[in-house]
Amino acid sequence: MYYTIIKKLLGEILQEYIEKIESAKTLKALEEVRIEIFGKKGILAEQFVKMKTIPNEEKKEFAKNLNIQKAKLTALFDSKKTALIKAESIALMKEHAIDVTLFNGDSTSGSLHPINETMNKMIDYFVSMNFSLEEGPLVEDDFHNFEALNLPDFHPARDMQDTFFFNDKKLLRTHTSPVQIRTMLSQKPPIRMICPGTVFRRDFDITHTPMFHQIEGLVVEEGDSVSFSHLKYILEDFLKYMFGEVSVRFRPSFFPFTEPSTEVDISCIFCKGEGCRVCSHTGWLEILGAGMVDVNVFKAVGYKNVSGYAFGMGIERIAMLMHQIPDLRSMFEGDVRLLEQFR
Ligand code: PHE
Repeated sequence: MYYTIIKKLLGEILQEYIEKIESAKTLKALEEVRIEIFGKKGILAEQFVKMKTIPNEEKKEFAKNLNIQKAKLTALFDSKKTALIKAESIALMKEHAIDVTLFNGDSTSGSLHPINETMNKMIDYFVSMNFSLEEGPLVEDDFHNFEALNLPDFHPARDMQDTFFFNDKKLLRTHTSPVQIRTMLSQKPPIRMICPGTVFRRDFDITHTPMFHQIEGLVVEEGDSVSFSHLKYILEDFLKYMFGEVSVRFRPSFFPFTEPSTEVDISCIFCKGEGCRVCSHTGWLEILGAGMVDVNVFKAVGYKNVSGYAFGMGIERIAMLMHQIPDLRSMFEGDVRLLEQFR
């Protein structure tokens, strides 16, 4: 009897809260309803307290019914909550949406940095000539950067490269030539590789920055099949690909890791060899260093009965010449007024 009355009452109370859940418009409103129903002082807790006053014979039935109602409310609450979260996040996304189809007359496209553009052009050439791309670490050791390249300790030629040293005898590579050594140590001839990358020297003025880029080349074959004329051909062909119809000049020079060594010039692209400020009135622009790989280098990597050539050049210098950029330092300032000109 008692139970029947309570059951009816409970049914009415529940109906009221079902409606409250269903009509909650925001997560915040739903949270308030949650406290009213499931909270410590909520209506369910109230009913469980009431249970104590119910006669024993009806208690079981009451509790069972109460739990069923509780499960119903919980399920309803959960699905309402999921729906509200979804609706609110959709509303939020709509509010913050960007119309990507909107035309903005001010937008500008980016461009490759002149160094990357020049480097890519060089890589394209050598890849088309069947050279592979190799890499090496920027933090090098004495062996790869100097020793194995025929630059033993106290060799005066080490002075040519102002080096950044770390405390533990490691150093920032001063050129890409250590990658020659790494490649020869990890591969067998025939080798035909280039290595573009950053290098570091203690230098800072209008034509020097502490970080700059080089591209290295190395060709090694068994026997004496690689000759200076191969080197001459590939460099002349490469320089014409880069600069168009220019004259190419090979000057005797010295590098510890090549013998004989040469520095290669092109006729000045600005005055066509007549003499101007850029070429210091010589008519020539110095572009790269090269030579036949020195036997001591082959010894250091354990190669016997092989021949090869190597070359290396700075990428900035070539980019500066191609784009007539007067100050090297401007390459690294990231000033959009400079970069915009390469779009
Ligand atoms: N490593 C030399 C430099 O940094 C360039 C070079 C590379 C010269 C390979 C000859 C052969 O100046």
